[in-house]
Amino acid sequence: MRIGIIGAGHMGSALARGLVRSGVRPSDITISDPDRRKLEPLRRMGMKTAGDNRRAVLDSDLTFLAVKPDVVERVLARVRRELEGTLLVSLAAGVSTEFLERRSGARVVRVMPNLCAEVGEMASCYCLGRRATPEDEELVRSILSSIGITFRVDEDLMNAVTGLSGSGPAYIYLVLKAMRDAGRELGLPEEIALKLAAQTVKGAGKMLLEDGRSPEKLLDEVCTPGGTTVEGIAVLRRKKVEDAIKDAIKAAAKRAAELSR
Ligand SMILES: NC(=O)c1ccc[n+]([C@@H]2O[C@H](COP(=O)([O-])OP(=O)(O)OC[C@H]3O[C@@H](n4cnc5c(N)ncnc54)[C@H](OP(=O)(O)O)[C@@H]3O)[C@@H](O)[C@H]2O)c1
Repeated sequence: MRIGIIGAGHMGSALARGLVRSGVRPSDITISDPDRRKLEPLRRMGMKTAGDNRRAVLDSDLTFLAVKPDVVERVLARVRRELEGTLLVSLAAGVSTEFLERRSGARVVRVMPNLCAEVGEMASCYCLGRRATPEDEELVRSILSSIGITFRVDEDLMNAVTGLSGSGPAYIYLVLKAMRDAGRELGLPEEIALKLAAQTVKGAGKMLLEDGRSPEKLLDEVCTPGGTTVEGIAVLRRKKVEDAIKDAIKAAAKRAAELSR
């Protein structure tokens, strides 16, 4: 299967690298971007690269759209003829399947990905446009599943997904930064503190995903009465960290809704 990607920025490049990591042959990917410098490392990996977006569409069985939401309309106008009747998979936040269908003439699947695509650990959701077929869904689902986990949702939930997992890596990086800094202030070498923090986040997530215990149950298991963890958790509760995280996700989802069309 040949895959086209329009836009070699953060998300397009992460997707391309994740696909290669999952076993897609680099030469089966054509990625386009006006900026040659962004394409160069991908070309060196063996991908086909182009300055002209039409190449990404014409050389592929399906095309991912990984440009910023505000340039989607302009990009589609230039490749409309090539896209007509093909499968278009948009990663653009807030751009509806109806908007994409009307401006591309393509069968559309809309995805909210995240940057962890690069390491094959993406959390994503997708919804289908009116013209997308069950075969289209199967194909997109299998591609998304090869680089992480994915769920189908109704389109009106895509803004919630954007706030939670689309923007999610950023919240975790903030937590990791704080864990690193605290470790350093307590005397640990910075590199060790950061790796301890990152592995702890990875391990905690893995336990949840692999064994069906709830976060409440796991929290209970780490918090021995009278032990050390309860002291830390008490501080987080006093500072209302749970409320702050919920508010952050809701603010990002609200912003996604404001930007939607
Ligand atoms: N980054 C994330 O974590 C994330 C998560 C979920 C969804 N997304 C979605 O992914 C999309 C891309 O986001 P991003 O963060 O990757 O943005 P980005 O880093 O700015 O990447 C967009 C790329 O598209 C290029 N571009 C601009 N005009 C183009 C054109 N006419 N034809 C082809 N390429 C063109 C840009 O080049 P220039 O820089 O030269 O303009 C840039 O390299 C967005 O719609 C966003 O909503 C991103």
